[in-house]
Amino acid sequence: MPSVTLENRTLHFEDVGEGTPVLLLHGFPLSSESFWPQLERPPRGARLIVPDHQGFGRSPPGDEPFTMEQLALDALRLLDAMHLGSVVVGGVSMGGYASMALARLDPSRARALVLIDTQHGADDDAAQARREATALEVEAKGAAVVAEAMLPKLFAPSVLPATRERIDRIMRAQRPASIAAASRGMARRRDSGDVLAHHAGPCLIVVGAQDTLTPPAKARAMAERMKDAELEVIDGAGHLSNLEQPDAFNAAVERLLRRLP
Ligand code: MLT
Repeated sequence: MPSVTLENRTLHFEDVGEGTPVLLLHGFPLSSESFWPQLERPPRGARLIVPDHQGFGRSPPGDEPFTMEQLALDALRLLDAMHLGSVVVGGVSMGGYASMALARLDPSRARALVLIDTQHGADDDAAQARREATALEVEAKGAAVVAEAMLPKLFAPSVLPATRERIDRIMRAQRPASIAAASRGMARRRDSGDVLAHHAGPCLIVVGAQDTLTPPAKARAMAERMKDAELEVIDGAGHLSNLEQPDAFNAAVERLLRRLP
C-alpha cells in the first residue's frame, strides 16, 4: 500500500486500475478495505484512489480535529502529491459527506461526484447527542460496541455471510479514539444542499433499495437538488451497496465514466 507524507503525518492509500482517476472515500468506522470488490476488480476505465482516512486503516491519527473538511483537505493534498487535477470524487456515507466538503472547498477538483448511501443534510440536535453518546461509549469500551451496534443495520438480508464478517472485522480493528473523533466530526458537519445545487458536472447517486440508515428517499432528495444527477437504486443492497452488489455498483460507475465530457 503506497503512502504520502502530508505535512506532519502519513496517509496510506490504494491506487489500482487504469483510466479516469476516481477518488473513493470510505465510510464510518471502516477503512479503504471496505472497497475490496472494487480494489480487486475496478470499474472498467477507472483508476481508483482510495485513502485510509486519518486514524483509520493504516493511516495514523492526525493532529487536526477530525472534520469532514479535514478529510477533504487530506484528499486534496493526496491528489496534489499524485499530480492529479480534477477527478471523479466519491464516497460511501461519511465518505460522501467528505466528498461534498471537498466539492465545497474546491469545486474545480471534482469533475463528477459519486455519492453512495449518503445524505446531504446536517445532524439535528438529537442525532448530535447520539453521536456524542457513541463517542463516549467507544472511548470507554472500545470499537466492539460500535461494531455490535452497526452490524445489524448495515446490510440487506441477502448479504453474504463472508461480507458481513469481513466488515465486522474491519470495524473492530479501528482505533477507538479515531472512531470517537469521527463520530464527533460527523455531528459537526454542515448541510451540503448548496454544494449539490452548485455542482457543475454530472453526479451518480447510488443507494441500496434496503438501506435503512440513509434510505432511498434521502438519495432522491439529493438528486432533486442537482442539475445533472443519475439516481441508481440497487436491489438486494442495504447501506454498503458497493460491497453487497459490486457488479451493479461497478456498472453504474462505468456508465458515469462513459458520459463524462
Ligand atoms: C457511515 O456509514 O459512514 C455512517 O453510517 C454515516 C453516519 O453515521 O452518518
